[in-house]
Order: sequence, then structure tokens, then C-alpha cells
Amino acid sequence: MSKIAILGHGVVGSGAAEVFFKNRESIRAKTGQNADIKYILEVRDASAFPGCSYSDKFVNDFDVILNDSEVTVVAELIGGVEPAYRFVKSSLSAGKSVVTSNKELVAKKGAELLKIAREKNVSFAFEASVGGGIPIIRPLHQCLAADSINEVAGILNGTTNFILTKMFRDGMAFEEALKLAQDNGYAERDPSDDVNGVDACRKICILASMIFGKQVNPDSVFTEGITKITREDISFCESRGGTVKLIARAVKNGDSPQVTVCPAFVHKDSQLAGVNDVYNAIMVRGEATGDVVFYGKGAGKFPTASAVVNDIVNALKSPGETGALFWEEDEQPISPPVFSEVCGNIRVLEGF
Ligand code: HSE
Repeated sequence: MSKIAILGHGVVGSGAAEVFFKNRESIRAKTGQNADIKYILEVRDASAFPGCSYSDKFVNDFDVILNDSEVTVVAELIGGVEPAYRFVKSSLSAGKSVVTSNKELVAKKGAELLKIAREKNVSFAFEASVGGGIPIIRPLHQCLAADSINEVAGILNGTTNFILTKMFRDGMAFEEALKLAQDNGYAERDPSDDVNGVDACRKICILASMIFGKQVNPDSVFTEGITKITREDISFCESRGGTVKLIARAVKNGDSPQVTVCPAFVHKDSQLAGVNDVYNAIMVRGEATGDVVFYGKGAGKFPTASAVVNDIVNALKSPGETGALFWEEDEQPISPPVFSEVCGNIRVLEGF
């Protein structure tokens, strides 16, 4: 028992395997279990990874994993909805805990998958899906238990923050900065999801679903990316005493909940103004707590992999502990966005 299967050996999958093997003994001590990775599901065979020290674990048939009762935790690190959804759903239904970094899957199918996990008394954990290595899902869930959270806003995409930082600070051209982000492994396989705001939209939908208690559909969210940002936009922000950031925001706002993703003016005194390069920051505004800001590396192989392995450790220690975390499958209606001002491609957010 206590065997783990990793689905996908891309950037995050290989990172999770490396982090796990490096810390295997301490993980065994922490969980009190003889935990090990038994399988790595990959469409490419082991010869595609020369020098890999654990190539004996590669399989290409998911049913081998599903039908092995020794496997109690599955880490889905493939990305996208299919086949990830099918693999996650059947793993949970078979009574295996699942951890994932897949924001698209959680944003679109989170309510249903949490419900299955709850019924089967196993975990469905997705800390790595938002903010890379920053703990936000677990702390937000804990805040929600004790406080009413009215707003979550932040910089949720490392690639675009890296690009905007390079454009703003170093005068770099958009394409040059994007190339650098890709070379560093921050961008998605298809960087259009990053630069068009789609990736940040999926992440804010996960956080919004948590605070609203209902599924927030990414298609209902006003989403603008950074591809049109010009030198004039940057000058406008400078002249106002601030900078430009791709801000993803969810506000409860009584009967008019809003969720938006757009390039926005951020005053230099804001805690978000100094969040540069690949760093992310998430501000949680609670009635009792006031503002709490979570900050750290929001993208990259090892920060994300470390969040995945943490979820694995928790799922091994306490399967079913995510049972209190859920939102309803009914879709949350979202109101049209309200901006204080629009200048060029920059939005000035109300009360921000
Ligand atoms: N492409 C994503 C980003 C990776 O740049 O933030 C982490 O989700």
C-alpha cells in the first residue's frame, strides 16, 4: 500500500518525481508509511528520458494504475481537460486520492470532483493549481472557516508578470520578454493562455468558486490579456505614480459578484506593486482578518512540484481530509465588470 502514481512526466511531473525521491526518507518519516512512486504514466517511452534513474516505473496504460489496489494516491500532472478528467474521475471513484496542478480541470470540473472525493472519503487536492509554490488553497479554506472573505485579488500568472516587469523595468519588447519566460519554463505549452489572461482566469475562478461557494465558469469572466500593452500604457501608469499588473480579482459585492482579469493600474504604495518577475501575490480581504497577502514563486518546475508533493504527503497522512472543501455545481452568475476609469489598455479598478 501507500504507492503513488504520477500521471505525466513533463516539467511539473518530472519535478514532482525529483522532489519526492530527494525527500523520500523524510516523507516516509512524516507519513509513517513506506511510501513510494510505483508508476509514472507517459505516452513517450523511457528512452525519451535518457539517464533517468527511475525509468523502470514508466507505463503507458492508465488501467494498470487504476486496477492496482496498492496505488492510493494519483498525482495528475498532465494538464488540460481530457484525458485528465477521465483519469481523475475514475481514480477518485475507485477510492484513490488525487492531487493535481491542473487549473483548467479544477476551474471547470472542481465541484463534481470534490463531491466524488467526499463521497469516497478520499482527498482531491489542488494546491499547485494556483500560485505555484505559494500555499493559498489550504490557507484560504482555513480562513473561510473562521471569517467572511469578501475579495481575493492578485497577480496569478508568473509569465505575464515576468513579461510586464521586463517591459516596464528594462524597456524590453513583448516578444523578447516572452521568449525569455519560455526559456525559463514559466510559460504554458501554448503561451497564448498566459498572455491572453486565460491561465489567470482559470486560477481566479478556482479562488472565486471557493469564496462564493458555487462553480464560477471561466467563460463568464471578463478576461483581457497583456498582448496590447504599449509604451504609452506604461507611461500612463508611471505618470500616475504606479505600474501595470495583470490583476485577477473576485469580489462578493452583495448581489453583484464580480470576477475580472485585466491589465490594471497599481499604485506604487500597493503591496502588489513590488511583486516582480515570476513572483505571484494573492491578497485575501476578510471581514475580520483585514488584508492578508500571500507571496512567492508562482511558476517554475520546483516551486510547483513542491506544492504537489506536499499535497501527496497530506493525502497519504489523512486521506479524505479535503472533505470539508467543496463548492456547489450550480453556476454562480457573475455581474458585468465596473471600472473607475479606462485609459488606453489600462483599467483602473474601483476601490483598488
Ligand atoms: N504558466 C503559468 C504561469 C504556470 O506563468 O503562471 C503556473 O501556473
